[in-house]
Amino acid sequence: MKTLRIPVRLRQTRDRSYEISVSAGMMKHLPAILSRRWPGRRIFVISDNRVGRLYGRAFMRELLAQGADCSLLEFKQGEESKNSGTAYLLQSQLLRGGVKRDSLVVALGGGVVGDMAGYVAATVLRGIGFVQVPTTLLAQVDSSVGGKVGVDHPVGKNLIGAFHQPLAVFIDPAVLATLPDDEFRNGLAEIAKIAAGLDAAFFRRIERNAPALRKTDVRQLSWLIARAVGLKAAVVEKDELESGLRKALNLGHTIGHAVEASSGFAIKHGVAVAIGMAAEANLAVRLGLMPERDRTRLLNTLRALRLPTRLPRIRKHGQFLAALAADKKSLSDGTRFVLPSAIGSSAINVNVPREFIMDLLRPKP
Ligand SMILES: NC(=O)c1ccc[n+]([C@@H]2O[C@H](COP(=O)([O-])OP(=O)(O)OC[C@H]3O[C@@H](n4cnc5c(N)ncnc54)[C@H](O)[C@@H]3O)[C@@H](O)[C@H]2O)c1
Ligand SMILES: [Zn+2]
Repeated sequence: MKTLRIPVRLRQTRDRSYEISVSAGMMKHLPAILSRRWPGRRIFVISDNRVGRLYGRAFMRELLAQGADCSLLEFKQGEESKNSGTAYLLQSQLLRGGVKRDSLVVALGGGVVGDMAGYVAATVLRGIGFVQVPTTLLAQVDSSVGGKVGVDHPVGKNLIGAFHQPLAVFIDPAVLATLPDDEFRNGLAEIAKIAAGLDAAFFRRIERNAPALRKTDVRQLSWLIARAVGLKAAVVEKDELESGLRKALNLGHTIGHAVEASSGFAIKHGVAVAIGMAAEANLAVRLGLMPERDRTRLLNTLRALRLPTRLPRIRKHGQFLAALAADKKSLSDGTRFVLPSAIGSSAINVNVPREFIMDLLRPKP
């Protein structure tokens, strides 16, 4: 029987470029900015209960004052809410609330809200526009840029999701003043990761300013955030779907994820990434990939940012190794690492001998 072949050519892609703006004090002007830029569109602001109370209510009052047709949808704060159940509730609220193809979702909150609201926007009516208004340092420098959205599954974190780029990202570093200290340090770890993996000059600036850095120093923070976001955006532009280059952003993450998972998620992500970066620097020095002097600079800077650098005592080796192997960023032919090769550059797909990993797990004297 002859096979009939019908080609489907899909070369034309829409331009999905967008702008990220960083401006201290922007939050109070944002409702006016949104109403001007997207006039007449129904707006669904999605937030968690904590950010909703701190910023969401005032944001809504201002949006209403601008004459916008809008609602505020809140869910309970925390990673435990980032699941398909919460997504379903929000999708229902949008559908019952008269969502249209041109409606707009505003993600107002940390990475949990950004991932969740982005996922809801990606799936409702096969995708509507959304805007990121990240309010944690981690979300401002990391999760709000790049278009990865999604929810957790009992099998693992972030396993259900999509790529859905926002229409714009609005970052106000002044909102970090209300952020708990440990959440602030979480974000600093991701900034250190971006600098250590991609840009030596940026790292030097962090190194110099780390001891004096405060979450209320909006001038310094605006600069750091803009630089970190610029570097991440440049990588994302070249590798939107994470096929190669974007892996450089996973520095500290292979071991970091295993530390996070084997602690039962008691250790926060950024803190785990700092521990992961330090451990990966140790591996890199041992493999002759990274000069000793650069490892010292990296570890000292992490400590100056009040981040830990020592692997905690890992009792359940099996769980740690399983988490390493399950890391979705590793390849199927063994655990490949992104390792620092010097301050400002990294090597991807490095094969690390198993005994080096086992040595990491041995208790230090
Ligand atoms: N999509 C991506 O590329 C990407 C990248 C990195 C991380 N993530 C995801 O991001 C999530 C973590 O994000 P997170 O660390 O922002 O956590 P989060 O969203 O849970 O926020 C942490 C806590 O801070 C509170 N909060 C937020 N902003 C505040 C403010 N300005 N003042 C006071 N409290 C505030 C929140 O209510 C929450 O209790 C994880 O689910 C992770 O998987 C996604
Ligand atoms: Zn991370």
